[in-house]
Amino acid sequence: MELFDLSGKVAVVTGGTRGIGLMMARGLLQAGARVYISSRKPDACAQAATELSQYGQVTPIPADLSTEEECLRLAREIAESEQAVHVLVNNAGATWGAPLEEFPASAWDKVLDLNLKAPFFLTRAFLPLLEAAATADDPARVVNVGSIDGLHVPALPTYSYSASKAGLHHLTRVLARELGPRGITVNAVAPGPFESKMMAATLDAFGEEIAAMAPLRRIGRPDDMAGVAVYLASRAGAYVTGAVIPVDGGLGTTV
Ligand SMILES: NC(=O)c1ccc[n+]([C@@H]2O[C@H](COP(=O)([O-])OP(=O)(O)OC[C@H]3O[C@@H](n4cnc5c(N)ncnc54)[C@H](OP(=O)(O)O)[C@@H]3O)[C@@H](O)[C@H]2O)c1
Repeated sequence: MELFDLSGKVAVVTGGTRGIGLMMARGLLQAGARVYISSRKPDACAQAATELSQYGQVTPIPADLSTEEECLRLAREIAESEQAVHVLVNNAGATWGAPLEEFPASAWDKVLDLNLKAPFFLTRAFLPLLEAAATADDPARVVNVGSIDGLHVPALPTYSYSASKAGLHHLTRVLARELGPRGITVNAVAPGPFESKMMAATLDAFGEEIAAMAPLRRIGRPDDMAGVAVYLASRAGAYVTGAVIPVDGGLGTTV
Protein backbone atom coordinates (compact mmCIF):
# COMPACT_ATOMS: atom_id res chain seq x y z
CA MET A 1 0.00 0.00 0.00
CA GLU A 2 1.23 3.48 -0.85
CA LEU A 3 2.52 5.40 2.19
CA PHE A 4 0.09 8.31 1.75
CA ASP A 5 -2.84 6.42 0.22
CA LEU A 6 -6.23 6.78 1.95
CA SER A 7 -8.28 4.55 -0.35
CA GLY A 8 -11.04 2.77 1.56
CA LYS A 9 -10.85 5.15 4.53
CA VAL A 10 -13.67 7.30 5.84
CA ALA A 11 -12.91 10.78 7.18
CA VAL A 12 -15.04 13.40 8.92
CA VAL A 13 -14.01 17.07 8.74
CA THR A 14 -15.89 19.56 10.90
CA GLY A 15 -16.00 23.05 9.46
CA GLY A 16 -15.14 21.44 6.13
CA THR A 17 -17.14 23.97 4.13
CA ARG A 18 -14.49 26.68 3.81
CA GLY A 19 -11.01 27.81 4.85
CA ILE A 20 -8.72 25.29 6.52
CA GLY A 21 -11.37 22.55 6.77
CA LEU A 22 -12.01 22.77 3.03
CA MET A 23 -8.25 22.59 2.34
CA MET A 24 -7.94 19.46 4.48
CA ALA A 25 -11.10 17.84 3.07
CA ARG A 26 -9.79 18.34 -0.46
CA GLY A 27 -6.45 16.74 0.42
CA LEU A 28 -8.09 13.74 2.09
CA LEU A 29 -10.38 13.24 -0.93
CA GLN A 30 -7.48 13.46 -3.37
CA ALA A 31 -5.61 10.82 -1.35
CA GLY A 32 -8.61 8.51 -1.81
CA ALA A 33 -10.73 8.86 1.35
CA ARG A 34 -14.50 9.27 1.40
CA VAL A 35 -15.21 12.44 3.35
CA TYR A 36 -18.10 13.76 5.45
CA ILE A 37 -18.13 17.52 5.96
CA SER A 38 -20.18 19.38 8.53
CA SER A 39 -20.93 22.98 9.45
CA ARG A 40 -23.96 24.96 10.65
CA LYS A 41 -25.23 26.29 7.33
CA PRO A 42 -27.00 23.76 5.08
CA ASP A 43 -26.38 25.93 1.99
CA ALA A 44 -22.66 26.20 2.69
CA CYS A 45 -22.52 22.42 3.25
CA ALA A 46 -24.26 21.70 -0.05
CA GLN A 47 -22.13 24.19 -1.99
CA ALA A 48 -18.84 22.90 -0.57
CA ALA A 49 -19.90 19.31 -1.27
CA THR A 50 -20.58 20.21 -4.90
CA GLU A 51 -17.20 21.95 -5.18
CA LEU A 52 -15.35 19.04 -3.54
CA SER A 53 -17.13 16.30 -5.48
CA GLN A 54 -14.65 16.73 -8.36
CA TYR A 55 -12.05 15.13 -6.04
CA GLY A 56 -14.05 12.19 -4.69
CA GLN A 57 -17.07 11.08 -2.70
CA VAL A 58 -18.19 13.70 -0.22
CA THR A 59 -21.30 13.83 1.98
CA PRO A 60 -22.48 17.01 3.75
CA ILE A 61 -24.27 16.85 7.12
CA PRO A 62 -25.20 20.23 8.65
CA ALA A 63 -24.81 20.51 12.45
CA ASP A 64 -24.18 23.21 15.04
CA LEU A 65 -21.32 21.57 16.89
CA SER A 66 -21.28 24.03 19.77
CA THR A 67 -23.55 21.67 21.74
CA GLU A 68 -22.92 18.09 22.81
CA GLU A 69 -26.35 17.01 21.51
CA GLU A 70 -25.41 18.06 17.99
CA CYS A 71 -21.99 16.35 18.26
CA LEU A 72 -23.81 13.15 19.23
CA ARG A 73 -26.34 13.56 16.42
CA LEU A 74 -23.56 13.95 13.83
CA ALA A 75 -21.92 10.72 15.02
CA ARG A 76 -25.31 8.94 15.05
CA GLU A 77 -26.14 10.03 11.50
CA ILE A 78 -22.79 8.89 10.18
CA ALA A 79 -23.14 5.57 12.05
CA GLU A 80 -26.32 4.95 10.06
CA SER A 81 -24.27 4.63 6.86
CA GLU A 82 -20.74 3.74 8.06
CA GLN A 83 -19.38 0.82 10.09
CA ALA A 84 -16.17 2.72 10.88
CA VAL A 85 -14.57 6.16 10.78
CA HIS A 86 -10.80 6.15 10.23
CA VAL A 87 -10.12 9.88 10.57
CA LEU A 88 -11.88 12.57 12.61
CA VAL A 89 -10.69 16.13 11.95
CA ASN A 90 -11.90 18.53 14.66
CA ASN A 91 -11.45 21.75 12.71
CA ALA A 92 -14.57 23.93 13.23
CA GLY A 93 -13.60 26.97 15.25
CA ALA A 94 -14.43 30.57 16.03
CA THR A 95 -12.56 33.57 17.36
CA TRP A 96 -13.35 36.81 19.13
CA GLY A 97 -11.29 39.96 19.55
CA ALA A 98 -12.00 42.80 21.99
CA PRO A 99 -9.94 44.93 24.36
CA LEU A 100 -9.41 43.47 27.85
CA GLU A 101 -11.81 45.84 29.63
CA GLU A 102 -14.61 45.15 27.14
CA PHE A 103 -14.09 41.43 26.55
CA PRO A 104 -17.56 39.89 27.19
CA ALA A 105 -18.34 36.71 29.10
CA SER A 106 -20.23 35.49 26.03
CA ALA A 107 -16.94 35.46 24.08
CA TRP A 108 -15.60 32.88 26.51
CA ASP A 109 -18.66 30.65 26.19
CA LYS A 110 -18.91 30.86 22.40
CA VAL A 111 -15.22 30.22 21.75
CA LEU A 112 -14.64 27.52 24.38
CA ASP A 113 -17.84 25.65 23.48
CA LEU A 114 -16.75 25.27 19.85
CA ASN A 115 -12.95 25.27 20.00
CA LEU A 116 -12.31 23.19 23.11
CA LYS A 117 -15.43 21.38 24.31
CA ALA A 118 -16.65 20.26 20.86
CA PRO A 119 -13.42 18.38 19.99
CA PHE A 120 -13.78 16.51 23.31
CA PHE A 121 -17.48 15.72 22.77
CA LEU A 122 -16.93 14.76 19.13
CA THR A 123 -13.98 12.50 19.89
CA ARG A 124 -16.07 10.78 22.57
CA ALA A 125 -19.11 10.51 20.31
CA PHE A 126 -17.04 8.96 17.51
CA LEU A 127 -15.10 6.50 19.73
CA PRO A 128 -17.10 3.39 18.71
CA LEU A 129 -16.64 4.22 15.01
CA LEU A 130 -12.95 5.06 15.47
CA GLU A 131 -12.31 1.86 17.44
CA ALA A 132 -14.08 -0.09 14.69
CA ALA A 133 -11.62 1.39 12.16
CA ALA A 134 -8.46 0.76 14.21
CA THR A 135 -6.10 -2.11 13.43
CA ALA A 136 -2.84 -3.02 15.14
CA ASP A 137 -0.80 -1.69 12.20
CA ASP A 138 -3.02 1.18 11.22
CA PRO A 139 -4.60 3.14 14.07
CA ALA A 140 -7.61 5.40 13.66
CA ARG A 141 -6.77 9.10 13.77
CA VAL A 142 -8.05 12.19 15.53
CA VAL A 143 -6.64 15.46 14.18
CA ASN A 144 -7.39 18.58 16.21
CA VAL A 145 -6.88 21.95 14.58
CA GLY A 146 -5.19 24.17 17.15
CA SER A 147 -3.26 27.34 16.36
CA ILE A 148 0.14 28.96 16.74
CA ASP A 149 -1.82 31.38 18.97
CA GLY A 150 -1.96 28.49 21.45
CA LEU A 151 1.86 28.25 21.34
CA HIS A 152 2.95 31.88 21.56
CA VAL A 153 1.26 35.04 22.83
CA PRO A 154 -0.74 36.49 19.94
CA ALA A 155 -0.58 40.12 18.83
CA LEU A 156 -4.35 40.63 18.93
CA PRO A 157 -6.63 40.68 22.05
CA THR A 158 -8.19 37.25 21.49
CA TYR A 159 -8.07 36.03 25.08
CA SER A 160 -10.54 33.16 24.91
CA TYR A 161 -9.27 32.05 21.49
CA SER A 162 -5.61 31.64 22.41
CA ALA A 163 -6.58 29.98 25.72
CA SER A 164 -8.92 27.58 23.85
CA LYS A 165 -6.13 26.60 21.46
CA ALA A 166 -3.53 26.08 24.22
CA GLY A 167 -6.18 23.98 25.98
CA LEU A 168 -6.83 21.98 22.82
CA HIS A 169 -3.11 21.26 22.41
CA HIS A 170 -2.99 19.89 25.93
CA LEU A 171 -6.24 17.95 25.53
CA THR A 172 -4.57 16.39 22.46
CA ARG A 173 -1.76 15.02 24.64
CA VAL A 174 -4.14 13.86 27.38
CA LEU A 175 -6.33 11.96 24.91
CA ALA A 176 -3.30 10.60 23.04
CA ARG A 177 -2.17 8.79 26.18
CA GLU A 178 -5.62 7.39 26.88
CA LEU A 179 -6.58 6.43 23.34
CA GLY A 180 -3.25 5.06 22.07
CA PRO A 181 -3.85 1.67 23.72
CA ARG A 182 -7.32 1.68 22.12
CA GLY A 183 -5.77 2.02 18.65
CA ILE A 184 -6.37 5.71 18.09
CA THR A 185 -3.77 8.44 17.57
CA VAL A 186 -4.57 12.00 18.62
CA ASN A 187 -2.55 14.86 17.18
CA ALA A 188 -2.96 18.59 16.69
CA VAL A 189 -2.02 20.82 13.80
CA ALA A 190 -1.15 24.37 14.80
CA PRO A 191 -1.65 26.50 11.68
CA GLY A 192 -0.04 29.86 11.15
CA PRO A 193 -1.83 32.36 8.89
CA PHE A 194 -3.97 30.87 6.11
CA GLU A 195 -6.52 32.69 3.97
CA SER A 196 -10.02 32.14 5.30
CA LYS A 197 -13.10 34.06 6.37
CA MET A 198 -11.77 34.10 9.94
CA MET A 199 -8.40 35.53 8.86
CA ALA A 200 -9.61 37.85 6.08
CA ALA A 201 -9.55 41.12 8.06
CA THR A 202 -6.19 40.36 9.70
CA LEU A 203 -4.55 39.37 6.41
CA ASP A 204 -6.02 42.38 4.58
CA ALA A 205 -4.53 44.70 7.17
CA PHE A 206 -1.27 42.93 8.06
CA GLY A 207 -0.79 40.11 5.51
CA GLU A 208 2.43 41.43 4.00
CA GLU A 209 3.91 42.29 7.39
CA ILE A 210 3.09 38.84 8.75
CA ALA A 211 4.57 37.13 5.68
CA ALA A 212 7.74 39.22 5.99
CA MET A 213 8.19 38.11 9.63
CA ALA A 214 7.98 34.40 8.82
CA PRO A 215 11.28 32.61 8.14
CA LEU A 216 9.66 31.17 5.00
CA ARG A 217 8.43 34.68 3.99
CA ARG A 218 4.87 33.80 3.01
CA ILE A 219 1.50 32.89 4.43
CA GLY A 220 0.10 29.35 4.18
CA ARG A 221 -1.20 27.77 0.99
CA PRO A 222 -4.02 25.22 0.69
CA ASP A 223 -1.55 22.42 -0.12
CA ASP A 224 0.28 23.05 3.17
CA MET A 225 -2.90 22.07 5.05
CA ALA A 226 -3.82 19.28 2.65
CA GLY A 227 -0.33 17.84 3.14
CA VAL A 228 -0.35 17.70 6.93
CA ALA A 229 -3.87 16.25 6.96
CA VAL A 230 -2.89 13.45 4.57
CA TYR A 231 0.32 12.76 6.52
CA LEU A 232 -1.50 12.44 9.84
CA ALA A 233 -4.33 10.38 8.31
CA SER A 234 -2.18 7.92 6.34
CA ARG A 235 0.21 5.08 7.10
CA ALA A 236 2.97 7.73 6.95
CA GLY A 237 1.71 9.13 10.27
CA ALA A 238 0.90 5.84 11.98
CA TYR A 239 3.56 6.19 14.74
CA VAL A 240 2.81 9.82 15.62
CA THR A 241 0.59 10.62 18.58
CA GLY A 242 0.36 13.43 21.12
CA ALA A 243 2.14 15.77 18.72
CA VAL A 244 1.33 19.41 18.07
CA ILE A 245 2.63 20.18 14.59
CA PRO A 246 3.07 23.83 13.66
CA VAL A 247 2.40 24.46 9.95
CA ASP A 248 3.30 28.10 9.92
CA GLY A 249 6.44 28.91 7.95
CA GLY A 250 8.26 29.09 11.30
CA LEU A 251 6.18 31.93 12.77
CA GLY A 252 5.02 30.19 15.94
CA THR A 253 8.35 28.77 17.05
CA THR A 254 11.05 31.18 15.86
CA VAL A 255 9.60 34.69 15.95
N1 LIG B 1 -7.07 30.64 9.04
C1 LIG B 1 -6.05 30.69 9.85
O1 LIG B 1 -5.09 31.38 9.59
C2 LIG B 1 -6.03 29.84 11.11
C3 LIG B 1 -4.86 29.87 11.89
C4 LIG B 1 -4.79 29.08 13.02
C5 LIG B 1 -5.86 28.25 13.35
N2 LIG B 1 -6.98 28.23 12.57
C6 LIG B 1 -8.06 27.32 12.96
O2 LIG B 1 -8.52 26.60 11.84
C7 LIG B 1 -9.89 26.25 12.02
C8 LIG B 1 -10.66 26.71 10.79
O3 LIG B 1 -10.57 28.12 10.71
P1 LIG B 1 -10.74 28.96 9.37
O4 LIG B 1 -9.71 30.01 9.39
O5 LIG B 1 -10.83 28.05 8.21
O6 LIG B 1 -12.13 29.67 9.72
P2 LIG B 1 -13.46 29.91 8.90
O7 LIG B 1 -13.17 30.26 7.49
O8 LIG B 1 -14.24 30.87 9.72
O9 LIG B 1 -14.17 28.46 8.91
C9 LIG B 1 -14.79 27.98 10.07
C10 LIG B 1 -15.58 26.74 9.71
O10 LIG B 1 -16.23 26.26 10.90
C11 LIG B 1 -17.65 26.21 10.69
N3 LIG B 1 -18.33 26.56 11.95
C12 LIG B 1 -18.33 27.73 12.61
N4 LIG B 1 -19.10 27.64 13.72
C13 LIG B 1 -19.59 26.36 13.75
C14 LIG B 1 -20.46 25.66 14.63
N5 LIG B 1 -21.00 26.25 15.73
N6 LIG B 1 -20.75 24.37 14.35
C15 LIG B 1 -20.25 23.77 13.24
N7 LIG B 1 -19.43 24.38 12.37
C16 LIG B 1 -19.11 25.67 12.62
C17 LIG B 1 -17.92 27.24 9.57
O11 LIG B 1 -19.11 26.99 8.84
P3 LIG B 1 -20.58 27.58 9.26
O12 LIG B 1 -20.43 29.05 9.37
O13 LIG B 1 -21.48 27.11 8.16
O14 LIG B 1 -20.92 26.93 10.57
C18 LIG B 1 -16.68 27.00 8.71
O15 LIG B 1 -16.87 25.83 7.92
C19 LIG B 1 -10.34 26.92 13.31
O16 LIG B 1 -10.28 26.00 14.37
C20 LIG B 1 -9.30 28.01 13.49
O17 LIG B 1 -9.16 28.39 14.84
C21 LIG B 1 -7.10 29.03 11.47
